[in-house]
Amino acid sequence: MPTLRLPDPVTVPMDQAPDAFVLEGDALYLDCAAQGPRLRSAHAAAMAAMDAAARPWQRVSPTPQEQRDILRALLSRLFDGDAEAIALVPSAAFGLAAAANSLALAPGDSVLVLDGQFPSNLLCWQQRCADTGARLRGVFREPGQDWTDAVLAAIAADPRLRIAALPQVRWDDGAVLDLDRISAALRERGIALVLDLSQSLGVVPPDVGRWQPDFIVSVGYKWLLGARGLACLWVAPRWREHGRPIEHHWLARDGGPDWRFGVDAAASFAAGARRFDAGGLDDPVRLALAIAGLAQVLAWEPAKIAAALGERTDALHDALDAAGLSAWTSRGHAPHLMALTPPDDLLAAADAALREAGISCTCRHGRLRIAPHLHVATGDMTRVADALSRASRQGPRAACRPR
Ligand SMILES: Cc1ncc(COP(=O)(O)O)c(C=O)c1O
Repeated sequence: MPTLRLPDPVTVPMDQAPDAFVLEGDALYLDCAAQGPRLRSAHAAAMAAMDAAARPWQRVSPTPQEQRDILRALLSRLFDGDAEAIALVPSAAFGLAAAANSLALAPGDSVLVLDGQFPSNLLCWQQRCADTGARLRGVFREPGQDWTDAVLAAIAADPRLRIAALPQVRWDDGAVLDLDRISAALRERGIALVLDLSQSLGVVPPDVGRWQPDFIVSVGYKWLLGARGLACLWVAPRWREHGRPIEHHWLARDGGPDWRFGVDAAASFAAGARRFDAGGLDDPVRLALAIAGLAQVLAWEPAKIAAALGERTDALHDALDAAGLSAWTSRGHAPHLMALTPPDDLLAAADAALREAGISCTCRHGRLRIAPHLHVATGDMTRVADALSRASRQGPRAACRPR
């Protein structure tokens, strides 16, 4: 039987990065915190996988099972290089629910989240607290306080704290938490740390050796330039032995060489973090997209991507300063994600002016979220400042589009 080979991931050097992406006309896409831009290599790999899947009678190499392990190995290079730590799940919410299901809570214990944290890292904790009689505590900032100090104060104030479920970079304005300091305070008290790195993995490198988290989740379709419906769950060694998955898919079990699942005794879990592997992820198209995206992110190196994206957001600050609009934003955010906060009565006008200039970003909660990737040139940022400066000259308009 013929073997159809999926193309090996193609990567391009950083100085050719803009050519690596699918681009159209003069659209300026600054909404990568919602959905990463599509790499040409990932698109080609997904199309090839789609073609191959049309002939299920032919053996394709790598098989979806091999693709899963390739992806696991690539993902592990974002952490500590241990592929046994990685489970594949369909969403951040799925991975976080598995973390919540594994960590013990008793009545009167508490779980810490940030006020305004992304709902995938909130709803599972609300449910778990309701099920166990534990309390969910939101961290709120005092005026002038940063998120790190607010979290440290909340940890110190709560003797019954058992779990902190946090991001590294906030999804709405790019504010950064200092996880070196926060994880040290948690470790001292034996408090579990669960991280949603969906808005930082692939750009800001995590330090699992120093933070010693229990679980880390990230979606694949933002800064990993991969696929929707394919997220990763990093699992600390202790939970690879004792964690409790929320579904019991056969992929996460060891059916033995003749793949038998007896009625009387449950098959043992597959090795490492695979016990958390979700079903339904044997899709060669999504896997091809994820592998190609990640291969490119690793070739560029997250820390270098961060430095390059920092040049783009710095360029926007400079352009806003030159346009007299520095009051619409502040520095101190992550290199790749920032928010503009025009005066309330100018928000709709600013949003409309950006759209009229062919610039995409998210307008929500009174902010315009700006999140470029390497398809954007630093020079493009003057277009943003020009559009905003037009809006501020023209004055108020009708309401911001809902999202
Ligand atoms: C911080 C963060 N976590 C998670 C998600 C998505 O989560 P899920 O895969 O559960 O839809 C997003 C999407 O915007 C996000 O910003």
